[in-house]
Parts: sequence; structure tokens; C-alpha cells
Amino acid sequence: MLARIIGTGSSLPEKAVANQELETLVDTTDEWIKSRTGIEKRHIAVTETTTSMAVEAAKHAMKNAGVKAEELDLIIVGTVSGDMCFPSTACQIQSALGAKNATAFDINAACAGFLFGLSIVDAYIKSGRIKTALVVGAETLSKMMDWKDRSTCVLFGDGAGAAIVKSSDEGILALVQGSDGVRGSALTCHNRAVNNPYVDNGFKTDYTKMNGQEVYKFAVKTVPAAIMQAMDKAGVSADQVKYFLLHQANIRIIEAVAKKLNQPAEKFPTNLQECGNISAGSVPILLDFMNQEGKLERGDLIVLAGFGAGLTWGAAVLTW
Ligand code: COA
Repeated sequence: MLARIIGTGSSLPEKAVANQELETLVDTTDEWIKSRTGIEKRHIAVTETTTSMAVEAAKHAMKNAGVKAEELDLIIVGTVSGDMCFPSTACQIQSALGAKNATAFDINAACAGFLFGLSIVDAYIKSGRIKTALVVGAETLSKMMDWKDRSTCVLFGDGAGAAIVKSSDEGILALVQGSDGVRGSALTCHNRAVNNPYVDNGFKTDYTKMNGQEVYKFAVKTVPAAIMQAMDKAGVSADQVKYFLLHQANIRIIEAVAKKLNQPAEKFPTNLQECGNISAGSVPILLDFMNQEGKLERGDLIVLAGFGAGLTWGAAVLTW
């Protein structure tokens, strides 16, 4: 049995913040942000939370798939920005949906979170352990940004994307994943410091810090290699693939990957212009946009790829 994506959903915060609005917060310009990243605006949570967006995205995906809550055997959420340390976002979604038959847990693989979740679901389905799963990528990164640091706060956005995955004769043909913890310091956000009756470090909030050039170099080398590896495993050539849906971090990274794969830019749809980088939410939100726009047809070969903090990366080749 293969694992097939049979429905998608997404949810974005109502408030959209254009680059021009950020010019009033930090020393930046619309022109700098657009030319270095392609980003024009991003959605920022005001009333929404990671869980509320994840639940909305999940409901849309279930409706799109025609799947009821009781049918879900597994719920996996890729997130680094859950509302609570515990219970997990996945358990909160389970409760909100009434998915009483599901096992639910979160994973932290940052911007590769959706791909890592999909990979776990793929293994569960192939082993025959489950039939139907919900995979979500959901983030409220705005709460983890230093809004005085122009090198990071202009890049990210909030939102959630979800997919229903079911056992089928068609679906995911190949998946590759990888991690490189040694280079993890290129993109970090510390959690609480050790602070208890025996040590007083004072609790300091920490924010996202990034060595942009290191992450850029990592992405343009690792992502095409992972995609090629996945296509090899699937026995599929790049020319046969209809769309490559990549993590929406930066238009220059996406263009560099397209060039390395010798494929036209039109095969690499983007929504980073209006969403920015939504970490684990990026890939499933883009997938849902494509699905809602009717751009995906049964039988199409699609590549999904994510990469980010960890460092982590994943790529999947699938039949729609
Ligand atoms: N507005 C204006 N200037 C800015 C700025 C901003 N928002 N952010 C940084 N700058 C400045 C820097 O301070 C630096 O100034 P200096 O030369 O006076 O020191 C200059 O712009 C160039 O900075 P640099 O970091 O070299 O820019 P870059 O061309 O590498 O672009 C990124 C920066 C972040 C866009 C780019 O490195 C990148 O996309 N990296 C990958 C990041 C990514 O994808 N992360 C997510 C992975 S999941």
C-alpha cells in the first residue's frame, strides 16, 4: 500500500503586513526585501494562534478529502511554535476535531516539519499499521522574532497547512530525509534557560537568530541533491515532474534549485510573495493553494521539498 494525499487545507491570519509597513519598524526598504527574498507581504497573527490555524486548516483538509474525524488513525503536527509546551498541538487538534481514534503527536523539524511528518505517515501506512492520517504544518513565528532585528523579522510569516493522507494503490513513490546537527547553529531560537531554586540565570526570552548566508549555501546545495535522490529512488526524471513545490524561504533559493535541476521556473510555483516563510506551514499551504486553484490533476507527478533549522531537509516524489 502507498500513502496518498487525498485532501488539503490551509489557514492564514487575517492581518497582512506589507513590506512598506515594516519600513516603519526597522531600517529596511520594500526594495531590499523584494530584491533579496521575493517577499512582498506576510500574514501576522493577532487573534489567531498556532492551534486555531491548525484546526481550521485540518477542517478544510478533511472536508476536501471527505474524511470524518473518527476515521483519523494518526495526527502529526510539524511545528516549532506551538501555543503550549504540552499538551502537544496535535493533541489539541485531536480534541477540537473529536478525532477520538487517533494517536497524536508533534515533531520538531522546523521548516522540514511537514516533510518529516509525511515521512512518518508514509512508513505507518506502508507497514499496514494505519489507514488514514492528518499531517499539519503550523506556525506562529511572529512571536519568536526580534521585531528590532531587520535581518530576520522581515522574512517570516504565520499560518497553517494540512493534508489528509490515506492508504491507496497510488501516492508517495519515494521520500528522502536528512539532518546535519553539526551545522545547527546557523539558525537557532533558544528555549527557556535553566532556572530553578538551585540556579538563578534569570529568564531571558530569546528570539530567532540566523546566519543567512550559511543557510542559503546549505539550501542551494542540499535541496537539489535531495530532490535528485528522491527522483532516482522513484525512477522518475525531472522532465516528468509537473510541479516542484519547495519550502517558501526565498525566491533566489528556488531559482537556484530550478537551475540546478535544469527545469523552467514555471514548474516551481511560489506564494512567498504573499506569505513569507511560514516554516513547517510553507509546503502544505502552497500545496493547498495549488489544489484550490485546480492546478493539480489526478496522476500528476509532484515533488515536495522542505529544509530548515536543525539543519533538516526532506523531499518527496508523489503521484497526485
Ligand atoms: N533591510 C535592509 N538591509 C538589510 C536587511 C533588511 N531587512 N537585512 C540585512 N540587511 C543588510 C545587512 O545588515 C547587510 O548590511 P552590511 O553590508 O552593511 O553589513 C546587508 O544587508 C547584506 O546582508 P547579507 O546578510 O549579506 O544579505 P544577503 O544577500 O545574504 O541576504 C538573506 C540576506 C537573509 C535574504 C539571505 O542570506 C538568505 O535568503 N538566506 C537564506 C535564509 C533562509 O532562507 N532562511 C530560512 C531557512 S528555513
